[in-house]
Amino acid sequence: MILKERKVPGPNSKAIINQSKQSEPQSMADQVPVVWDHAEGVWITDVDGNLFLDFTSGVLVTNIGHSHPKHVKAVVDQTKRLMNCYSFPTTERVELSKRIVEVLPDNIDKVFLLTTGSEATEAAIRIAKRYSGKHEVLSFYGAFHGRTYGPMSIAGNINTRRQFGPALPGGIMAPYGNCFRCVYDKKFPECDFYCIKMLDKIIESSSSGDLGAVIAEPYQGSAGFIFPPKGWLKELEKWANARGLILIIDEVQSSFGRTGKLFAIEWEDIKPQMICLGKGLGSGIPTSAVAGESKIFDCMSPGEMSSTTGGNPLSSAAALSVLEILKEENLTENARTVGEYLLERLSNLWKKYDFVGEVRGLGLVIGIEIVKNKKENVPEVDICKKIISRCAELGLMLGRVGMYGNVIRVAPPLVIKKEECDIAVEIFDRVMNEINKTL
Ligand SMILES: Cc1ncc(COP(=O)(O)O)c(C=O)c1O
Repeated sequence: MILKERKVPGPNSKAIINQSKQSEPQSMADQVPVVWDHAEGVWITDVDGNLFLDFTSGVLVTNIGHSHPKHVKAVVDQTKRLMNCYSFPTTERVELSKRIVEVLPDNIDKVFLLTTGSEATEAAIRIAKRYSGKHEVLSFYGAFHGRTYGPMSIAGNINTRRQFGPALPGGIMAPYGNCFRCVYDKKFPECDFYCIKMLDKIIESSSSGDLGAVIAEPYQGSAGFIFPPKGWLKELEKWANARGLILIIDEVQSSFGRTGKLFAIEWEDIKPQMICLGKGLGSGIPTSAVAGESKIFDCMSPGEMSSTTGGNPLSSAAALSVLEILKEENLTENARTVGEYLLERLSNLWKKYDFVGEVRGLGLVIGIEIVKNKKENVPEVDICKKIISRCAELGLMLGRVGMYGNVIRVAPPLVIKKEECDIAVEIFDRVMNEINKTL
């Protein structure tokens, strides 16, 4: 089934986008120009009445699907009861904290609720510095941990770093386990985790002897859905533990079922000392958290950690319902099985089209990297943009990501069915075929 072809943007979308230009900065202007009106499950309707299959989850947020009735009810009921209070515990907040701790590895026994992903990574860095008494943090090329100055200073993503002046001191950076574009020009598994082995050399030359923590994403989201080879995170954990460093895993994007496990760290069975959460936790209601070991959190004195709306009754009730829905509807399992199916079907595009450099993914987070040709793997942004625009005209809503902006972001809500994936694959194939003929 191919959806009805439509003009993008439609007249109503166009008018609203123009209106937005009067009063909003255009920092997000590079998206598909469609103004969403309402959405249900995996289907979006825009302000012109066009239907789109959502393969964005609104930047990997709406894991449970749009306007899930149970989520909506939890939010509406809570709105009527209590939306905000002074920062004393509420039943919703306490219950949510308990549930989060229950589903995380057993070394994690405390959780601090916040509002955005950047706030969670910011808090994790602050706590790690305070606890360790050390002020350097190791992070990775291509990493993205948020747009406030703390996370930005330990991120290796050109989109957040360039032209913002000097970062905060203490950030040390090393190559990630990116085998598609290995900076050491090595091949896995023969390299035997060479990039982990090189960390000591990097620290030797770049650290003032004040390194206290290391932060990593389980897969790099903003850099282009880059998945390190199996075993890389485990090796990183061993390396960090052997040096007494606090390991922080940034699961803001990868958690709550997205990769086919509730948390991506479960694929490698690692036990970081701190974990950052966000996005899918509230599934649309702004909620984030940093979870960790109490021996680490206990270093913070009263007043050193607080956030006005963090863990408020409304966001806590919303997040609690997300956890229930994920469990009741086996959405993590669905992400795994449907994700495997989708990855296999999309991999056929790699076989067919020379400009598809790689199709990679885990669960329902899949990156399609567009290149000039397979031989050289040079990033190709124009074709990537054309594919995304043309897919929108045929009813498939996609995002673009990557250090070089040449990766198609495939990340539908976790409620998606195989038949809906078939629609998307058919659209992809038609669009790529059309573009291929013009080359
Ligand atoms: C891994 C990761 N960390 C942190 C953030 C920042 O989250 P927020 O935009 O909610 O501040 C993001 C957002 O994309 C992310 O992907």
